[in-house]
This record gives sequence, structure tokens and C-alpha cells, in this order.
Amino acid sequence: MMKTTLGIILFVLAGLALAQAPAPVGNAEAAKSKISMCVGCHGIPDYKTAYPHVYHVPMITGQQPVYLFNALQAYKSGARSHPSMRGIAQSLSDQDMADLAAYYSSEPK
Ligand code: HEC
Repeated sequence: MMKTTLGIILFVLAGLALAQAPAPVGNAEAAKSKISMCVGCHGIPDYKTAYPHVYHVPMITGQQPVYLFNALQAYKSGARSHPSMRGIAQSLSDQDMADLAAYYSSEPK
């Protein structure tokens, strides 16, 4: 009986620890080797991609890092759907996303 209770408590605590695992800390320097795949679209003011439809490419510089990180996670998970961003986000690790978020949030708008 004691053992089961303890087991449940440990299980709940582990769940809490997982739920609260902080996002990896982003490193803007490290992102510089990763942005080559983003600048093609996000680097050009007012740029629009033509495939598969014409899309307006949003400005991502100067946004909150947490917003950028969450947006990339959402593309990866499919919660946000956009064919090109989804493909890109799927190739990124959590650390890549944190680095990119740190980099873009520190760039001037
Ligand atoms: C093929 C062109 C293309 C490339 C390459 C690209 N993006 Fe995007 N990105 C887009 C488009 C178009 C959108 C808007 C999609 C939508 O409407 O959801 C977008 C949206 C985003 C958003 C959400 C912005 C917002 O305001 O909600 C983030 C963050 C982002 N991209 C980051 C990146 C990063 C980081 C890279 C490089 C790893 C990258 N993108 C590469 C075209 C691109």
C-alpha cells in the first residue's frame, strides 16, 4: 500500500517535471550557421513565395523569442500548417529553434 502511494507520487512528480522542462536556451551566435535556410525567404522585405501559392512571408526579426520558438514548434507538430515552413521546422531540433529564435529576436525589425 505504502509502495503504491509512493509510486503514484513519484509518477506525478515526474510528470510535473516533464511538463515544466524549460525550452533550451537559445544562442544567437550558434544560429548564424543555421540561418542560411531562412534568409532566402525571411531576409527580403515584403518577399512573397510563389510555391505552392503566393504567400506573404512574415517579418520574423524583432519578435519575442518565445513567440518564434512556439511558432516553429507549431509548424513542426502540424498545429500550424504551411507546407514550406512545416518541411523546414521538421528538420530543426529544439536547440536549433531556440538558437534561431534568439538570433531573430535580437535582430532589429
Ligand atoms: C520557402 C520560404 C521560407 C523559408 C525558407 C523559411 N520560411 Fe519561415 N515562413 C515562410 C512563410 C510563407 C511563412 C508564413 C506561413 C504561414 O502563413 O503560416 C513563414 C512563417 C514563419 C514563422 C512564423 C512567423 C509569424 O509571424 O507567425 C517563423 C517563426 C518562421 N517562418 C521562421 C523561419 C525560420 C527560422 C526559417 C529557417 C530555419 C524559415 N522560417 C524559413 C516562408 C519561409
